[in-house]
Amino acid sequence: MLSDDGSYTAYSKEYDEHYHSTKDGALKESYVKHVIPAFKSLKSRDEVHILDICYGLGFNTLCTILYYRIHSPKTRLRIYSPELDTELITSLKNFTYPKEFNVFREIILELSSHNTYEDKQLYIEIFLGDAREYIKRFSDKFDIVYQDAFSPSSNPILWTKEYFNDIKNTMKEEGVLTTYSIALKTRIALYENDFLLYLNEGEDYRTATIASQKELQNFKKVDMEHKISCNKDIKPLRDADLIDT
Ligand SMILES: C[S@@+](CC[C@H](N)C(=O)[O-])C[C@H]1O[C@@H](n2cnc3c(N)ncnc32)[C@H](O)[C@@H]1O
Repeated sequence: MLSDDGSYTAYSKEYDEHYHSTKDGALKESYVKHVIPAFKSLKSRDEVHILDICYGLGFNTLCTILYYRIHSPKTRLRIYSPELDTELITSLKNFTYPKEFNVFREIILELSSHNTYEDKQLYIEIFLGDAREYIKRFSDKFDIVYQDAFSPSSNPILWTKEYFNDIKNTMKEEGVLTTYSIALKTRIALYENDFLLYLNEGEDYRTATIASQKELQNFKKVDMEHKISCNKDIKPLRDADLIDT
């Protein structure tokens, strides 16, 4: 399906949701809600470790490589990305990607066939399986987490307080997490895990969220104490609430 910025995205029958916002557009959403704010929040470094939740069509991973090649070509990227849907990954060799990704043909083919890609600058690993299990392997590793699962209402297991606790453990203390979700339940789940919450705002896209344990300079902080005091009944999603769902 063609999204509004001219890039194609896909629709999941299982989750009854598109892989990207069709209004913002797949390519644009990836840049403005994930890649650019994460890049702006980090000090430049020789190697950046990224957890991409979840791989889906791979826009976040591919946009990241494109962006770093232009803005920080010497940085080595190591990207780790879980994905449950094996058939989807196999099918990606035939997906109609935007022309900006033409340079990544070899990477797309390798990932689609072997789930990993490596060269001097780049390591990418797609883990075929459950993100909840996968993230337990990592500790104090990631500079950036792209939280881009299907929505909290259709895929709640990737938005609970316990999930974000595990995510926090995978991250370096100065790491940043980006997400399109502005739901208070999501923000509380992060806040109760000691994340500070920031607005990712722009004129031509829907506002999104950035979370970090460190203070960020370039973004407006969300006053969580105030929000919680105005919405006393709102609680984060919890694993225990999802046992029968
Ligand atoms: C919104 S899409 C991700 C879009 C992706 N970031 C992109 O740029 O194309 C969400 C993905 O999460 C995957 N998924 C859902 N539950 C999962 C789980 N528990 N573990 C791993 N992947 C999961 C779905 O199969 C789907 O591909």
